[in-house]
Amino acid sequence: MYVKFLFFDLMNISVSSKCPTSDALLVFLYKQEKKGQSRIPYVSQFSSKAIKHIIQRIKDKDFDGSAGEVLTLYLESESSKRIILIGLGDKKEFTLESLRSITSTASRRIKKLKVKKIACLLPEGEEYPNFVEAFMTGFMLGSYSFGKYVSDKKKHEFHVNSITFVTSQSAKEIKQKAGEGYDESLGIMLVRDLVNTPSAHMTPVALAKEAKRISNSSSRMKIKILDEKQIKNAGMNLLYSVGAASREPSRFIILEYKNKPKNKKPIVLVGKGITFDSGGMNLKPTNHIEDMKQDMAGGATVLGIFQALANSDLPLNVVGIVSAAENAIGGGAFRPGDIITAYNKKTVEITNTDAEGRLVLADALSYCVEKYKPEVVVDIATLTGACIAALGYEITALVSNDDKLAKKLKKSSVETEEPLWELPFYKNYCKRVKGEIADLKNWTSGVSAGTIMGGAFLSEFVGKTSWAHLDVAGTAWSKDDSGYKSKGGTGVMVRLLWNFLKNY
Ligand code: BES
Ligand code: MG
Ligand code: ZN
Repeated sequence: MYVKFLFFDLMNISVSSKCPTSDALLVFLYKQEKKGQSRIPYVSQFSSKAIKHIIQRIKDKDFDGSAGEVLTLYLESESSKRIILIGLGDKKEFTLESLRSITSTASRRIKKLKVKKIACLLPEGEEYPNFVEAFMTGFMLGSYSFGKYVSDKKKHEFHVNSITFVTSQSAKEIKQKAGEGYDESLGIMLVRDLVNTPSAHMTPVALAKEAKRISNSSSRMKIKILDEKQIKNAGMNLLYSVGAASREPSRFIILEYKNKPKNKKPIVLVGKGITFDSGGMNLKPTNHIEDMKQDMAGGATVLGIFQALANSDLPLNVVGIVSAAENAIGGGAFRPGDIITAYNKKTVEITNTDAEGRLVLADALSYCVEKYKPEVVVDIATLTGACIAALGYEITALVSNDDKLAKKLKKSSVETEEPLWELPFYKNYCKRVKGEIADLKNWTSGVSAGTIMGGAFLSEFVGKTSWAHLDVAGTAWSKDDSGYKSKGGTGVMVRLLWNFLKNY
């Protein structure tokens, strides 16, 4: 078990119209619009002494409500031992994304204080239920750190075991939104744990074991795992070849979530599961190889979504595929110049062994298209360094053969505030994946549009099926803690894809 995330249970989230006794009361305040003007919400929840004190702190400029500002007050006689004031910044500039980020800052502070029981005063308004969801995400993800390998685990412990939202709004709706934030966050934390675990431990077999754990936790799920022999016998020679040099055997993982009439076509999610990308014989140099344990992030995202599905009852049929292998070097490795027959019988000349992601995905895509005749297929992959050059570390690239599907994903991007940018599925570039001595080649010199070329190659394996490709090479990993991201795996695209599934 890799995940130590069940620090509190959904059952311990409650709603009340009065402040309960707690170890910390979180009070979210916008920045004061005019000098000396104090806007304390829910005044009735505080004693006059507390209100005077807070107003004085604002007058004294200890706190002015700037985004992310946190001030802890210890006031006897209140229901809570501490009142933690949290600044939301200018009301005009406020977004749910800023709330997630601000809440994560508060969450880190609370982690240090070892607080157990918290109550929360969010700004009132019609947006309230969405505030609660964003609060939960920021709060849980801000508390995340990867403590699995350190001897002193104290710094990594999170003590909160109950949250009460103080509001007069419908408890049912608030609890449901809190639950959604909770489920998504569990999925994201799982992705982070899987990505952060070193390649020596997060092997294809370990990914398969994790998938089994998820599948066993839900009566709506089934799982099928192909080992390296079955991969070869099935004709997935591209996946087989990529994994051939590794001592860690490859796995092809198929998860099925069924909660709709049997004959309904499924939505298929396919993840790149390269547990370490050395580049193969086209070996990666220093400064490019170090963080390559992250190369299974797409596969982990699929597992993160299934983690969220396990707790849900979304009326959908969803198939999740993780094509898992280690791209190692050694005598058994595939070589530049090799020609390999894919699952769909197209031949591929290997022009670069470091363009391995598209190979393992190609077999997964043609397999799922043949077996499931999907409604749509979305793949998620840390596919190209070029994606970082084009869009940096905060924007995921989208390439698709279907405008309607792309539009849906972009809508989810807007709703979840997970940035996505579509690159053109440009015909002239698509032609350039054709080979001279084989049907295709996995890398073409001289085109330079690396991310589009990755997509163009993948599109050769989906036929006419509606398909979209998410390149998370820049976004799956964070170089430092920032907002609700923590250093290492980010779990990006779980919220976007979860929104996409919910709205489907
Ligand atoms: N896993 C890498 C892409 C990557 C780079 C992910 C940086 C995360 C951060 C992928 O397998 C790769 O090596 N791509 C090559 C493709 C090229 C040889 C066509 C690349 O981007 O250099
Ligand atoms: Mg590579
Ligand atoms: Zn790779």
